Amino acid sequence: MPIPPTDGSPLTALITGASSGIGRATAVRLAGRGARLVLVARGREPLEATAAEARAAGAAAVTVCPADVLDEDAIRAVVSSAVAEFGRLDVVVHSAQVMAYGRIEDVPKEVFERVVDTSLHGTATLARHVLPVFRRQAGGHLVIVNSLLGNVTTPVLGSYAVAKWGQLGLARVLQQETRDEPGISVSIVQPGGVDTPIYYQAASWAGSTGRPPPPVYSPERVARRVLSTLENPRRIVQAGVANHLITAGFRLLPGLYDALVEPLLRTFALAGDDVPPTEGNVFESRPEGNAAEGRWRSI
Ligand SMILES: NC(=O)c1ccc[n+]([C@@H]2O[C@H](COP(=O)([O-])OP(=O)(O)OC[C@H]3O[C@@H](n4cnc5c(N)ncnc54)[C@H](OP(=O)(O)O)[C@@H]3O)[C@@H](O)[C@H]2O)c1
Repeated sequence: MPIPPTDGSPLTALITGASSGIGRATAVRLAGRGARLVLVARGREPLEATAAEARAAGAAAVTVCPADVLDEDAIRAVVSSAVAEFGRLDVVVHSAQVMAYGRIEDVPKEVFERVVDTSLHGTATLARHVLPVFRRQAGGHLVIVNSLLGNVTTPVLGSYAVAKWGQLGLARVLQQETRDEPGISVSIVQPGGVDTPIYYQAASWAGSTGRPPPPVYSPERVARRVLSTLENPRRIVQAGVANHLITAGFRLLPGLYDALVEPLLRTFALAGDDVPPTEGNVFESRPEGNAAEGRWRSI
């Protein structure tokens, strides 16, 4: 779908995880194309910051909707109020996620389950309310921001990898289940390392927070990839120059991959900042940590 649509009407887009990182960059980029935006995350204050940036970038309208993607009633209300306000919903970009560091045996059960739930049940909840709207309109595009870790596994990030493998499976099912309506697209974007706050907002039982493994993309670069996917729906899109190589290593040379992955992770993907066990933002928003980007150099 061209953005803005060729009939001259503004595009209406709902973005989850819109207060930080990739979701926020996507919102601002869509604003630059004159879109009407519905911004969703748990914490209101950083969503207001995204809204201010989006208005300055040229959004036709911005609505801030604090909601947890795990709250069925809240997501139902957000989707129906977006349709009531704007008459339709063209695009949904799903970027909400939390993360936890630590071995499976060390991460508390509740933390493991919330990381997986946010990914799996959060995506399913959103799909349950968005896809019927798309069907009534005979059109709409859902973009799910997944991860390179939906294709490969790594120790110490097990809960997140499990979450992203599950989300990938769910997203592929959604693609298959919407084949009967040619106007509906479901696309998956898989970033590699991106400079966002998710690494220090994460829970950790690993003695350290994380950092994005190189090559590190800017959220803006991933947002550009999301927009090109919206214009040109694809089943799965990579946003990381090394993704194909790493996935091939995982699949074709599992012995070598398994020998290398933990030392590489400890060298390039842990911050080494010596933190005590923390739940991070897994159960509640930590608004002060949400931001347009993280603290690393990116390409
Ligand atoms: N950064 C990377 O290197 C990287 C790599 C691969 C894939 N990804 C994926 O990219 C997506 C965006 O991540 P990011 O790096 O941009 O993270 P981020 O900067 O931490 O942003 C995460 C966003 O999700 C929101 N959120 C978290 N839990 C939520 C919930 N239960 N309900 C609603 N909103 C929730 C957060 O706001 P609140 O806390 O206020 O709710 C925030 O707006 C995620 O799917 C992530 O897995 C990131």
